Amino acid sequence: MTDQLNIGIIGGAGYTGGELLRILLNHPFVNVQFVHSKSHAGKPVWATHTDLLGDTDLLFTGDDLAMLVAQDGLDALFLCSGHGASATFMAEHDISDDIIVIDLSADFRDEHDDFVYGLPELQRERIQEATRIANPGCFATSIQLALLPLAKAGRLTDAVQVSAITGSTGAGQALAPTTHFTWRNNNVSIYKAFSHQHLAEIRQSLTQLDPDFSHAINFVPYRGDFTRGIMANVYTPYAGTLDEAKELYRAYYAGHPFTHLSDSPVDVKQVVNTNKCFLHLELHDGQLLITSVIDNLTKGASGHAVQNMNLVFGLPEDTGLKLKSVAF
Ligand SMILES: NC(=O)c1ccc[n+]([C@@H]2O[C@H](COP(=O)([O-])OP(=O)(O)OC[C@H]3O[C@@H](n4cnc5c(N)ncnc54)[C@H](OP(=O)(O)O)[C@@H]3O)[C@@H](O)[C@H]2O)c1
Repeated sequence: MTDQLNIGIIGGAGYTGGELLRILLNHPFVNVQFVHSKSHAGKPVWATHTDLLGDTDLLFTGDDLAMLVAQDGLDALFLCSGHGASATFMAEHDISDDIIVIDLSADFRDEHDDFVYGLPELQRERIQEATRIANPGCFATSIQLALLPLAKAGRLTDAVQVSAITGSTGAGQALAPTTHFTWRNNNVSIYKAFSHQHLAEIRQSLTQLDPDFSHAINFVPYRGDFTRGIMANVYTPYAGTLDEAKELYRAYYAGHPFTHLSDSPVDVKQVVNTNKCFLHLELHDGQLLITSVIDNLTKGASGHAVQNMNLVFGLPEDTGLKLKSVAF
């Protein structure tokens, strides 16, 4: 029997914080020791994450962070705050190396300050040894899982084209013109074409597997009028048969519990509310099309973070993550 892991969450009132709580409160080896929130200090967690009524009596704490992270017995800390806040927190606090830090923001994804990029399908062994983990971005996860087998086999021989659509929760809880129901409903739009911030971490991983990879990654991100999920459609020239490509993907993801190749076309609802990534391949006139679907808040964020926690603490990778999709 594994001892209970004592966990702290910082920035707990947002979307990824809420999703993390939903998973950790049902994790067999986790005790949530505290959930810090600047905006909701003193309020019951269920008053913000209202579906958790009946699941927890925890209150958000606004206590001094230096005191909270110095508490005896704290095993891991999840950082769920917005861009830049994790870097500030780490600069201002001396966190013991005995405490595992898993950051969901983009602040350390370039692996500075001893952070390891937390994509188990790329580098599970490095994550198992890490004390600081930078959880990947949501688009970045779906796109990388579509490309890693090709990069590993040296089969990325030309530019990569990507169009990917995300649900509105990808933008966080704060209301903005582009997350307002009136604008988002019955609407589709693109943003940050060819310049999305996740391109850097995608290239970092691809060149880790194939140091010669220097081709363009032409990424057009879309905002969808649904709340959760990402579909990425990725294509690139491929000189080989479809069966050969499928074998490449099956071999690469053998032993990875969440990433699966489907012979049938995939859709977002198959993976919403799960930590899975489903992939589907098609070959058209020498272009290999890879469709990749994930839930932006689970495999794209909080589920992925728990997967990394499981790896660091030597638990089976899918502990607490055998989640049911909504399906329809
Ligand atoms: N959303 C996604 O799909 C996704 C996927 C991958 C990575 N990420 C990354 O994860 C980090 C957190 O993302 P997020 O989507 O959780 O952002 P969010 O919903 O905007 O929450 C960010 C922070 O806002 C604060 N906050 C301030 N006022 C609030 C209010 N009225 N209600 C709720 N929270 C409030 C919370 O901190 P306090 O509790 O301290 O006030 C919370 O940690 C970001 O760095 C993001 O880039 C997000």
